[in-house]
Amino acid sequence: MNLKTYKKLRAKQLNPDFKSAVEIVEIPISKPAVNEILIQNKFAGINGGFDTLLCRGDLPYINLIPPFDLGVEAVGEVVAIGENVKDFQIGDAVVTTARGGGYREYQVIDANLGVKVQEATPELLTLMPTGVSALVALEKVGEMKSNEVVLVTAAAGGTGHIAVQLAKLAGNHVIGTCSSEAKAKLLRELGCDRIINYRTENLNQILKEEYPNGINLIFESVGKEVFDTCVENLAVRGRLVVVGFISEYAHNVEQITQSRIYHQLSWKASSVRGFLMAHYKEYMPEASDRLLNLYYTDKLKVAVDPTQFQGIESIPDAVQYLLSGQNCGKVVMKF
Ligand SMILES: NC(=O)c1ccc[n+]([C@@H]2O[C@H](COP(=O)([O-])OP(=O)(O)OC[C@H]3O[C@@H](n4cnc5c(N)ncnc54)[C@H](OP(=O)(O)O)[C@@H]3O)[C@@H](O)[C@H]2O)c1
Repeated sequence: MNLKTYKKLRAKQLNPDFKSAVEIVEIPISKPAVNEILIQNKFAGINGGFDTLLCRGDLPYINLIPPFDLGVEAVGEVVAIGENVKDFQIGDAVVTTARGGGYREYQVIDANLGVKVQEATPELLTLMPTGVSALVALEKVGEMKSNEVVLVTAAAGGTGHIAVQLAKLAGNHVIGTCSSEAKAKLLRELGCDRIINYRTENLNQILKEEYPNGINLIFESVGKEVFDTCVENLAVRGRLVVVGFISEYAHNVEQITQSRIYHQLSWKASSVRGFLMAHYKEYMPEASDRLLNLYYTDKLKVAVDPTQFQGIESIPDAVQYLLSGQNCGKVVMKF
């Protein structure tokens, strides 16, 4: 390896505008310590919501002072190993999910933190940690069962399209919301039972007319009026998992005045439950194994958005693209 330096993207200042918050820096490639591996990242997953909140300084559980590194999941190839590393060889493909490890051309990590995979393909970034979040949110927080009605919002997105399939695999009737015909086509291919394009159909009206008994489990990641509609349409003992609220990430938080939420929940014994993967880390290894197994045995289809983003310089555009709501499947950039 003749290269001596590499590029990474980091936050130079807190700013609600991701592009203004970040800069590219060039730094020396470090040698792995005895238990570490050096990875050349080939693809990184884009988490436009998380990236934006991080750069706004709006994540109460992470208190980072700039400059700090960005990006989470990446898939790449091992290019050097520490002398005590037994589980990896040079050339192995590996997925990593360390915060700060994604938006950089090279990374050094403890060998225990890498997941060895068959090939360094972008499809794997739909599984770890995105698909894992979907699985843990549905099962551990949403207490997913069978023969229930499950609603997934942003269903054709990176997280949503995995949630749809996991809910189907568990034997549920699955409703998915999306905003375009291309996304509806993907959801049809994934076996979604009722696809609601919210630009052409009224979500609240359809839920009330077609699901008068309400929705048992809701995987909600959009927020604002979509969240309100979902709460309103919960079934008796229904569970709504707050996976995210992407409609508010790029804007100031909307202040609302209405009666307190217990007026909606109490009489139905329904519940709204927050989810954050960072608080469920212990499930990561088992969930990753299960998802990899489902994927390698063709029981889980994965969708990578076809829009090309190449090179570290493309990351702000990729974040902007994801936040614009156009993507179909997981947004990924190529190094
Ligand atoms: N809690 C956790 O630990 C955790 C982990 C992973 C992801 N998440 C959350 O899961 C959600 C999805 O994340 P992702 O990275 O997989 O993104 P994504 O779903 O691939 O992309 C975002 C999608 O959200 C939908 N959307 C609806 N209203 C929107 C609006 N006003 N602005 C922007 N997008 C809107 C768009 O699809 P449609 O217009 O078709 O609906 C868009 O394609 C986010 O809320 C994210 O924060 C949470």
